[in-house]
Amino acid sequence: MTDYYRSKVKYNEIIATFDDVLIQPGFTNFEPSEVDMSSNLGSYKFNLPIMSAAMDTVTEELMAIKMALLGGLGVLHRNCSYERQLEMVRIVKRARSFVIDDVATIQPDESVSKAKYMMDNYNISGIVVVNEENKVCGIFTKRDIPFSKNDINNGKVKNFMTKDVISIEPGASREKALEVLFESRKEKLPIIDKGGNLKGLITKKDLAPEFPLASMDSEGHLICALALSPKFPESTHAQKLLKEIENYVDIFFIDVADFYKTSDIKGTKKLMDFLDSDFVLGNIGTYEAAEHLITKGNFNEDKFIGLKVGMGSGSICTTSIQTGVGAPTLFATAQVADAIIDYNSKISLIADGGFKNPGDLPKAFTAGADLIMSGHFFAGSTESPGYVDTIQGRKVKIYRGMGSKEARTSGYVADRYTEGSKSLPEGVSDYVPFVGDMEGVLLSLKEGLLNGMIYAGAKTIDEMKKAKVGVVSYVGQRESRPHDLLSRY
Ligand code: XMP
Repeated sequence: MTDYYRSKVKYNEIIATFDDVLIQPGFTNFEPSEVDMSSNLGSYKFNLPIMSAAMDTVTEELMAIKMALLGGLGVLHRNCSYERQLEMVRIVKRARSFVIDDVATIQPDESVSKAKYMMDNYNISGIVVVNEENKVCGIFTKRDIPFSKNDINNGKVKNFMTKDVISIEPGASREKALEVLFESRKEKLPIIDKGGNLKGLITKKDLAPEFPLASMDSEGHLICALALSPKFPESTHAQKLLKEIENYVDIFFIDVADFYKTSDIKGTKKLMDFLDSDFVLGNIGTYEAAEHLITKGNFNEDKFIGLKVGMGSGSICTTSIQTGVGAPTLFATAQVADAIIDYNSKISLIADGGFKNPGDLPKAFTAGADLIMSGHFFAGSTESPGYVDTIQGRKVKIYRGMGSKEARTSGYVADRYTEGSKSLPEGVSDYVPFVGDMEGVLLSLKEGLLNGMIYAGAKTIDEMKKAKVGVVSYVGQRESRPHDLLSRY
């Protein structure tokens, strides 16, 4: 058994949090441009090891798409019906790809209003028109929507679609597709086989390397992750929907406050048998919990790709003060990292919640994390769900814990907490400052991490795990912040 992380943070004596420790500076024998911040979760590679939390005031389709385009991952929340979850995962998976094989189609005799409804709801700009035998007979894009209201309400697709379809054969290269798109000045290129059958669709925006760091699967679709209750759904209708949802999801994140429970383990095992996607399990907070899940959980080894850690340390969490139990993220990370080293180093570790400053990120990696997750950093951005409000001249957005009274009354996340417990909220709802585009937030997190890695002398996340940390004294903590300035205290 290694004492590696254990010797770094003496967590058996102190339950340490981010502010308790500092990374010791290391020797830097490389250029900033050589730093590689990429990290893996199972077989998925992320150029930016940052995730947005599965919370209903943080991650819906807009945030998930932006996070993945910029190299991270947004985990879609589950505080809504399966129907809404299906809508979200579909939008994320369809947002980008080199080849779309699940092409939205319509028949020529269908109404213009239906085509318009589909484009609005699937967030796409065009639909391929096919006859009953799936043979392509036209394409209908937003540009083909007629001007007159009467034509929209009563017109048929066949009277407004573009009949002369420029297409490409199956198996054509990216370069060939780019060439045809350029020559025809089109945005969409249906893939049609020799028999005239629709085989897929290539769009111009997906071919352009507009987002070189994007988190993508092998077909160029964005990686899609969704939170999931550990309870196996009882009704066949719900099971059917979940199966449909799975078609668009790469990774399910089991989403409970405390996963170290027989009932959640049993339910998750059933879900893993039922679904083919990969799974991250969480949250847990101790070495013993990780050891148990890895060695006695009997989870499908190929699908169990990660553990998410941290309990009660989130900015909106009240679990620790309501119940007296908690595992601050840094402590939980160091504990679980040790168990992963001891029992299965293929499992990735996600440090979740409690991050206040960019400098907390490098600390989490030093304690053994592969990726980090935050709600707090992203809740106030344009891409989070909800409206921008103004309080005393300041722009704000609402950020609420999934255990807050407000979130729990929705009925979908009651099983995130102790079964049957309804009267004791474990989270709060409050305002956070509106911070604009989340790209700006990510940029400052990225820079904090980059500079932290440079100061620590670590070129990669794995090297970061070897950096030394020390516990800071109370006076040291005071000194680490701006101090002895007239306007501060
Ligand atoms: P931050 O610090 O980013 O933390 O706001 C986000 C993480 O907190 C967890 N979470 C909760 N924990 N009560 C809790 O005890 C809650 O109401 C609650 N809501 C979210 C979750 O793990 C999230 O990623």
